Amino acid sequence: MINKVKGTYDVLPNESYKWQYLEQKIREITKKYNFKEIRTPIMEYSGVIHRETELSDMVTKETYNFIDKGNREVTLRPEGTAGVIRSYVENKLYAQNDLIKAYYIEAMFRYERPQKGRYRQFMQFGIEAIGSKSPLLDAEVIAMSSDFISSLGLKNVVIELNSIGDVDSRMKYQEALINYLTPFKEELSFDSKERLIKNPLRILDSKDSKDQEIVKNAPKPIDYLSDESKKYFEDVIKYLEAFNIVYQVNNTLVRGLDYYSEIVFEVKAQIEGFGAQNVLGGGGRYENLVSELGGPKTSAIGVAFGMERLLLALEYENVLPNEEDNLDVFVITFGENEKIYGTKILNGLRNKGLTVDIEFDNKSFKAQLKKAINKNAKVLVIVGEDEVKNNTVTIKNTKTEKQVTVENQKIYETIKNELENLKWEHIIIMNWQLKMLAKM
Ligand code: HAM
Repeated sequence: MINKVKGTYDVLPNESYKWQYLEQKIREITKKYNFKEIRTPIMEYSGVIHRETELSDMVTKETYNFIDKGNREVTLRPEGTAGVIRSYVENKLYAQNDLIKAYYIEAMFRYERPQKGRYRQFMQFGIEAIGSKSPLLDAEVIAMSSDFISSLGLKNVVIELNSIGDVDSRMKYQEALINYLTPFKEELSFDSKERLIKNPLRILDSKDSKDQEIVKNAPKPIDYLSDESKKYFEDVIKYLEAFNIVYQVNNTLVRGLDYYSEIVFEVKAQIEGFGAQNVLGGGGRYENLVSELGGPKTSAIGVAFGMERLLLALEYENVLPNEEDNLDVFVITFGENEKIYGTKILNGLRNKGLTVDIEFDNKSFKAQLKKAINKNAKVLVIVGEDEVKNNTVTIKNTKTEKQVTVENQKIYETIKNELENLKWEHIIIMNWQLKMLAKM
């Protein structure tokens, strides 16, 4: 047996409804905020992902890179933003002179150490708003994130917010941070020692406890913000209040990717037992990516959520709906003739738009009944010798136990009535009798 690739997973037929539910919630929220879907390729030329300014571990160490048969360097996308911006530039969307509000639901690939909530292939729901630097737009993206979390029914989730300032502020801050950290260099973890030169900001969110101890008294980005960045941050907060959003300012928040400036934020689960991978989503403003990828200077802001982590949170908080009972009818037949007759009925009902299934193998009545119940069929259509002879079928409502034999022309009408009644009656009567029968 060959197993799945390490760090990947299968979504089995009895679990896919969870994904469909989450996707439906995404479609609803993006529609409400007027974002339109963009679909870009799974792979990009490596230059789109491996840019000179992008020194994050995620991009430098964790990408899947390969040379194709035409000797081109290709990378499986580790995140969505770079590909979306490549597409924005290549398709000259900036020429529309309008803000582009795009969203995506797509697979990403990172060669990370797999653990609960962390995979090598995973799904992101992301949004990008490209073409405006307005604090209202920052607030809009954060408000949508908050609204999305609420629409899922998640309660123990917080939004943390920070400003890392414009490029100038960041340079100043970086200098101050290096000055502070250099005397501790020998005490820092191996990774942080490396980052001290390449990417000191990342030391701030090191998971190493010694690093964390050292970082506690480090200077904070907020103290190095230029007046403009400070004002921008304050304005974003004003709009967040207008949106009535609950948030927490976290002055030590920095993000894993290097393209951010000004506003950064994360959506974190604070659910007991959830585990270390508790960042459900993260994002921020980025101002140089469009020009780096060959477009005009254009400011943008976005966020992406890890969908596996969202599903995990839904499970932990017990707010995932049960699978919809969507089988309207199960057709039970005995014998060859009956099966052919039953197939015609099945076909006719499907053509009318009902969800209908049948037993394909030759099974006993009891076995077929058991199957119908396990599939939560609302109505049974039973075809025996008599039914074929008289051009009728027997219809049984599995909830009310009501059973009638009707002529061929009345099948759809009768079933439709039964389904309507079920909708309105809110019947609590369990189909225990049928279940008992099935157990016999
Ligand atoms: P990111 O923080 O790298 O940001 O990823 C966003 C989310 O993807 C994370 O918060 C997490 O929930 C999920 N995620 C990341 N890695 C994994 C993994 N290995 N397994 C499962 N889930 C994972 C970005 O990707 C940016 N592109 C977000 C953004 C959009 N910024 C601006 N626009």
